[in-house]
Parts: sequence; structure tokens; C-alpha cells
Amino acid sequence: MTSKVMGTGSYVPENIVTNEDLAKLVDTSDEWIVSRTGIHERRIAMDEGTSAMAAEAGRRALENAGIGAEELDVIVLATTTPDNLPPSGACEVQAALGAVNAVAFDIAAACTGFEFALTMVQAYVQTGVYRTGLVIGAECLSKIVDWTDRATCVLFGDGAGAAVVRADESGVIHSVLGSDGTKGPVLTCTSRSTGNFLNGREPKLGYVYMDGQEVFRFAVKKVPECIRRVLDESNTDINEIKYFVLHQANLRICESVAKRLHVSMDRIPMNIGAYGNTSGATVPILLDELNREGKLERGDKIVLCGFGGGLTWGAVLLEW
Ligand code: COA
Repeated sequence: MTSKVMGTGSYVPENIVTNEDLAKLVDTSDEWIVSRTGIHERRIAMDEGTSAMAAEAGRRALENAGIGAEELDVIVLATTTPDNLPPSGACEVQAALGAVNAVAFDIAAACTGFEFALTMVQAYVQTGVYRTGLVIGAECLSKIVDWTDRATCVLFGDGAGAAVVRADESGVIHSVLGSDGTKGPVLTCTSRSTGNFLNGREPKLGYVYMDGQEVFRFAVKKVPECIRRVLDESNTDINEIKYFVLHQANLRICESVAKRLHVSMDRIPMNIGAYGNTSGATVPILLDELNREGKLERGDKIVLCGFGGGLTWGAVLLEW
């Protein structure tokens, strides 16, 4: 038994921030941002947080799947920007949706969060622990971005994407996930670390720091590598893959992956121009767009692939 994607949903805040808007905030330009990243604009949450966006994406995914919230056995929310600690964002989603029969929890794997969460739910389904799951990637990165740092603030955006999966004969075929904690310092954000009443230190809350070039080098090597592995280990020919749904971090990274895999860019859909990098939400938002545009047919094979903080990476091969 494996898990089939029954429906998808996504949500992005209404508020659009263009490159020109950012050029009024920091020393940057539309030309620099577009040529280095492919990003034209991003959505930034005003009043809503991660849980509200996640719940709306989840509600839309349930509607698309034609499945009631009470049918869910498990909700896994991948996020590095939860609104609270605790309750988990997944518990807030459970409450908002009325998913009274679901166990709910968050996982943190940064931009690979959706692939980690989907693989975890797949393991539950495969072993018969749960039958129906809601997998969400949602981030409110605007809360942890330093809006005075031009090297990072132009890259990120807010949003959420979700998929409802259910036990079936076809669906997720294979996953390859990986982590390298020794490279953690290249992409970090301090969160309430090391302060307590004994050591007298104030809890520290930081902003996103990134060694962009190091992350770039890691991504262009690791993404093709783990896609090749997921295909090899499942005896799948690369030509069988209709779409490679890649984490939307940078257009140039995706172009480099296309080159290294010898596939054309029409098999690597992009929406980074409109949303920027929404971390764990990019892949499910893009998947939802493909689904709603009618670009996926049952039986199509696709690969989802994420990479990012941790460092982490992951590729999931699935039959639609
Ligand atoms: N606007 C204008 N200039 C900027 C800028 C901005 N927003 N951000 C940085 N610069 C400047 C730098 O200060 C530097 O100036 P200097 O040469 O005078 O020192 C110059 O542009 C080049 O910076 P560099 O960091 O070498 O640029 P780059 O070509 O590597 O592009 C990134 C930077 C961040 C776009 C690129 O490294 C990248 O995409 N990395 C991967 C990031 C990523 O995907 N992160 C998410 C992972 S999940």
C-alpha cells in the first residue's frame, strides 16, 4: 500500500511586495534581483500567521480531494516559522479545520520540509498506522527576515501549500532524503537560544543569515544527485518523468539542475517570479498550480525535490 495524492490546495497572502518596493527599503534594484534570482515579486503576510495560511491551504486541499476533515487520521505541518511554541501549527490547523480524528504535529526541515513530511506520512500509510493524511508546507518567513539585509530580504516570501493523501495501490513510489548537520551554519536563524535564569543571559532571537554562494553550490550539486538516486533506486528512466517540481529558491539553480540532468526547462515548472522563496511551501504551492491548471493526469510520474537549511535535501518520486 502507498499514498496517493487525492487533492491539493494553496494559499498566499494578498499583499504583493515588488522588487521596486524593496528598492525603497534597501540598496537593491529590480534588475539585480531578477537577473540573480528570477524573482519579480513576493507575497507578504500582514495580519495572518503560518497556521492561518496552513489551515486555508489545507481546507482547499480537502475540498479538492472531496474528503471531509473528520476523515483525516494525521496532519503533518512542515514549517520553520511556527506562530507559537506550543501549540504546534498542526494542532492549530486541526482545530481550524475540525479534523477531530487526526493526530497533528509539526516537523522542521526548512525548505525540504514538504518532502520530509510527505515521506513520513507515506511511512505511516505503508505500515498501516494511518490511512488518510494532510501534508502541509507553510511559512511566514517575513517574520524572521532582516529587512535591512539586502542579501537575504529580497529572496523570501510567505505562503502555504498542502496535499491530501490516502492509502492506495499507486502514489508515492520512492523517496531519498538526506541531512548534513555539519553544514548547518551556512543557513541559520537563532531562536531563543541559551538564555535562562541560571546563566543570566537573555534569550536571543535572531534573523535569517545565509552564505548564499555556499547554498548555491550545495544545491546545484545535491539536487541532481538525489533526483538521480530516487530514479535509480526505483528503476525509473528519467524520460518517464513528466515534471520535476523543484524547490523555488532561485531560477538559476533550477536552470543548472536542468542542464545537469539533461532535461529541458519545460519539464521544470517555475513560479518563483510571483512568490519568491517560500521555503517548505514552494513545492506544494507549485504542485497545486499544476494540478489546478489541469497539467497532471492520473498515471503521470513526477519528482518533487527540495533542499535547504539543515542542510537538508530530499526527492520524492510519485505517480499522480
Ligand atoms: N541587491 C544588490 N546587490 C546585492 C544584493 C541585492 N539584493 N545582495 C547582494 N548584493 C551584492 C553583494 O553585496 C555583492 O556586492 P560586492 O561584490 O560589492 O561585495 C554582489 O551583490 C554579489 O554578491 P553575491 O553574494 O556574490 O551574489 P550572487 O551572484 O552569489 O547572488 C544570491 C546572491 C543570494 C542570489 C545567490 O548566492 C543565491 O541564490 N544563493 C542561493 C540562495 C538560496 O537559494 N537560498 C535558499 C536556500 S533554501
